[in-house]
Amino acid sequence: MVGNETRKRQLPQQPIGWVEFVAPAKINLFLELLAKRSDGYHELETVMATVALFDRIRLTARNDDQFTLKVTFQKSVFPILPDVPTDERNLVIKAIIRLQNAVLEKWGIKKSGCDIWLHKGIPVEAGLGGGSSDAAATLMAGCQLWQVAFSQAELVALAEQLGSDVPFFLYQGTALCRGRGEHVFPLGNAPQLDIVIAKPSSGLSTAEVFQNVKVSNSVNSPTKLVDAVISGDRFQIGQQMFNRLQESAMELCEDLPCLADCFENSAACGHLLSGSGTSYFGLFNSSKVALQTARYLSARLPQVKFFSTSTLARVV
Ligand code: C5P
Repeated sequence: MVGNETRKRQLPQQPIGWVEFVAPAKINLFLELLAKRSDGYHELETVMATVALFDRIRLTARNDDQFTLKVTFQKSVFPILPDVPTDERNLVIKAIIRLQNAVLEKWGIKKSGCDIWLHKGIPVEAGLGGGSSDAAATLMAGCQLWQVAFSQAELVALAEQLGSDVPFFLYQGTALCRGRGEHVFPLGNAPQLDIVIAKPSSGLSTAEVFQNVKVSNSVNSPTKLVDAVISGDRFQIGQQMFNRLQESAMELCEDLPCLADCFENSAACGHLLSGSGTSYFGLFNSSKVALQTARYLSARLPQVKFFSTSTLARVV
């Protein structure tokens, strides 16, 4: 979305006043660690899919070179307000500064600052990629605000400096990701999957879950899961879903085994931890059954937030 009174009067030389993007969450349908690298990261293979839970991000141009960030929270998702930094520790500020530097390097122009408003609808410390998605949305929104065009490869190079999952959010939809997570291979015709995401009140740090994991000698291949995704067979997808981080996260968060039991006793075709948690999701055969299950489970576990939602094709 783009807004500016002067644009409406079609004065082409006028800069854009503000731009707004939605930043979707993701789930991991598959995540296997291949090896620990010398830089401390893990070589991995993961299949990620964007889902219909969103943050919103608005960039408004300033006349000076300052960047400001205001963060607000969707009340129904955040009964207790989390501590989200609004300075350079936030990936959104890191992203806009990197983009400004990249514009300066490529075109020799120093773009002016902007006020950023981030409205969080994606739970944090959840393994749902909210911060990474916000960073990718900031890169795309910044390009529109400043009316600059980088190639996808240039944007991916910027994104991977911000975090392992950030490049995926430049593509969205469903994709196989390799390397640290930054090599993205989109899976064209992935189906829309009905899911229920459960988010307990406790959160987990990604770094801590990775540190606690035992890398296995026999690694699982994503091939069967990818085939199941391409064929759209929900039962097969449910059977083939896997997350190497699950055991580690379950050791660190006592809410997770109970959630796994709840989904095991439901009509889910499969259930899994998303990323490094603490979100746990079930895959269902229809949106109706997903909604019924979310309602039933939220009545039983009022301290857990349940979201009946679905995976998405690209939305921006
Ligand atoms: O890349 P990002 O900053 O999102 O990663 C957060 C943390 O997760 C890293 O500091 C690292 O501990 C862990 N990680 C990893 N291997 C990956 C991705 C993340 O060990 N491929």
